[in-house]
Amino acid sequence: MPGEYDQLLEATIEHLQQLKAHGTRFVTVDTAALKALTAPVAPAKAPAPRSLSAQAQTVAAAPAPVTPNTAAPVKERSVFAPAAGIPPEPVIEPLAPEAKPAAMAELRARASICVKCPSLVAARTQVVFGVGDVNAELMFVGEAPGADEDAQGEPFVGAAGQLLTKIIQTMGQSRETVYIGNILKCRPDMPPGASGNRKPTPAEMRTCIPYLHEQINIIRPRVMVALGATAVEGLFGKPIPITKQRGNWMTYRDIPVMPTFHPAYLLRNQAMSEKRKVWEDMLAVMERLGLEISEKQRGYFLRG
Ligand code: URA
Repeated sequence: MPGEYDQLLEATIEHLQQLKAHGTRFVTVDTAALKALTAPVAPAKAPAPRSLSAQAQTVAAAPAPVTPNTAAPVKERSVFAPAAGIPPEPVIEPLAPEAKPAAMAELRARASICVKCPSLVAARTQVVFGVGDVNAELMFVGEAPGADEDAQGEPFVGAAGQLLTKIIQTMGQSRETVYIGNILKCRPDMPPGASGNRKPTPAEMRTCIPYLHEQINIIRPRVMVALGATAVEGLFGKPIPITKQRGNWMTYRDIPVMPTFHPAYLLRNQAMSEKRKVWEDMLAVMERLGLEISEKQRGYFLRG
């Protein structure tokens, strides 16, 4: 089908550019992969040329067709959520801790000039990329910036953000020791004169999610927390009821994810029982990370 070869080529170029941006300077390509890659440019010689999508599958199925040249063997892991029409998932090696700041800075620079959603671009003050330690073991994922975040350029700085900051501090962490990002990097635009926030549309989430995938790939946190239903939907590509799922571990590309209520929900519903649920989720996160938990920490929001 016309265009498939170009798609494959574009994906390969993008993948190699990502590797380069992440510090890889050399890649090795095995003979089988080279054959598969060169086949499309010499179709006349083949008596019955296979479809280009079949060739793409060959490339995807070939054993380690493009292998980053690393000294130590590393466990490779795919990063991008598969979607119809999207070429084979890039396989990117984990970055060395010292390579992460530059990779994240490069990604931030790209995201900050993103114009993929014209209505969000027209309404935004700035792109709200993410904040925290690029080597963090723990990453929080929220929904999208609100008005405060749009104004300040940092996620979770409004009322819900202040509550999240308190939760993080109660866990013995800080905004500097974890990483905080959102599914959407731009504030969802509101009708003129309207206040509040709206949920990102599925199309907006699909458009923006590659940035979060790249952030996760750079950080490779040991544990993630998905804050609210939209964060879960953005990460896992389908709506999942948060009331049923919260407190139950999920897995995103090998990384354990704890879904919990969004702090904005806790601001709307002040019931002690709901606070305790979120806190129990955070205790589970701390346990998973092997963090020490004091008796005081264990006892928060328990009625005496
Ligand atoms: N809510 C979110 O989900 N993200 C923010 O950055 C702020 C509020």
